[in-house]
Amino acid sequence: MVDVLLGLQWGDEGKGKIVDRFAPDYDLIARFQGGPNAGHTLYVEGQRIVLHQIPSGIFHPHTDNLIGGGVVLDPVTLKREFGKIAALGIDASRNLCISERAHLILPTHRALDKASETAKGNNRIGSTLKGIGPAYMDKTGRNGLRVGDMLERDFTTRYIRLRLKHQKMLDSLSFSEDITEWEEEFFEALELLRSLRIVNGEYHINDRISKGDRVLAEGAQGSMLDVDFGTFPFVTSSNTISAGVCTGLGVAPQRIREVIGVTKAYCTRVGSGPFPTELHDETGERLRATGNEFGATTGRPRRCGWLDLVALRFACMVNGVTKLVMTKSDVLDNFASLSACEAYRIDGETTDKVPYQMSRRPIEPVYRAFEGWLSDTSLCTSYDELPARMKEYVSYMDTALGTRIAYVSNGPGRDQLISMPGT
Ligand code: GDP
Ligand code: IMO
Ligand code: MG
Repeated sequence: MVDVLLGLQWGDEGKGKIVDRFAPDYDLIARFQGGPNAGHTLYVEGQRIVLHQIPSGIFHPHTDNLIGGGVVLDPVTLKREFGKIAALGIDASRNLCISERAHLILPTHRALDKASETAKGNNRIGSTLKGIGPAYMDKTGRNGLRVGDMLERDFTTRYIRLRLKHQKMLDSLSFSEDITEWEEEFFEALELLRSLRIVNGEYHINDRISKGDRVLAEGAQGSMLDVDFGTFPFVTSSNTISAGVCTGLGVAPQRIREVIGVTKAYCTRVGSGPFPTELHDETGERLRATGNEFGATTGRPRRCGWLDLVALRFACMVNGVTKLVMTKSDVLDNFASLSACEAYRIDGETTDKVPYQMSRRPIEPVYRAFEGWLSDTSLCTSYDELPARMKEYVSYMDTALGTRIAYVSNGPGRDQLISMPGT
């Protein structure tokens, strides 16, 4: 049995915190897509830690963690992460394994990411510059190198061949970058990678499912950044939705039980691209300051706005969400009034559907207003303690999305999670 936990917006919904909280109930946490563009923040005994490559179950000794075949892996980031985890007294190799099918991010992929963004100028995606796009392009272009290849004798020859190809591409974009240091780090980090438990991911996971182990697939990014269903071209390069679990881990669809969708109580986006409910005013600034909305991977300020129920309904539909987790509700504690977007107005027409192309024509959100609850909820530990107006907001969302909010997260700490009645 596999449960899936993924983001329903444009990433940074608080997935890491929730996975860390749920991890003791699972035997295996598996990342199925994305790479070091992800930044999942956890608090472990009061210490903040951001994970980019390693699944968020790593701090639980009885839970194993798998970097699945659909992930693109940067060995340098992985090694750094090992260092951060070791500083907390934990050896990440004790409960981590890596699929031999995961594609490697090479130093030249990072250079190509930069070159491509520079060439796009004002139309840039706002990539995290971690080499994600170029690495996935080499996967679909059938050129990439995989973790398993690293164990073969001809790895260096193949690496040099691919690097040469990349060099020609960089030259054609008139982009030059000295990658000597990156390359040194890369080969050093490969040594660590070679020493880890490298597995045939699909047999590993299916064997464990067959023997009754409980698996949680941890999504990275968010549904609106999905390469097929997001706000293309302002998206990432992988399938972030639940379908990505099947291709990224090699599990069949009927193995999937719950699809747990995570949404903030408002909305953020980092990088370029359409964001209909974005607030360019003081309220947006307040959301950013109160929610500490700065990128966990790049430190960039996140764009902030009200909840977008049109996009959320779409995300619930394409993912088959069975339960919702609403995070960061505490950030709204001091807002006297709140809004949620119920429909879009495009060219004078009102629609409750996400158009296939969101960036060509202006989208005007149609809002419903709510009175804020104006009380500190960060210390609440049960549904009964929540203010009535927050309960109304949650219940309105349940109905508007046709999916139940099962948990409300009221702070960044592991213990700040409230079960809704019936959960
Ligand atoms: P992820 O990428 O989905 O794992 O999310 P990030 O870690 O990038 O961003 C979420 C941020 O919100 C992190 O700084 C978390 O510590 C923080 N966070 C998570 N849940 C809550 C919550 O319920 N309330 C507050 N105030 N912060 C939260
Ligand atoms: P987590 O897992 C938020 C965004 C980037 C950019 C676009 C493409 O922490 O939620 P890429 O580097 O993938 O080529 O960037 O996607 N992006 C994210 N935004 N959270 C993330 O991950 C993201 N990963 C990528 O800002 O707009
Ligand atoms: Mg993040």
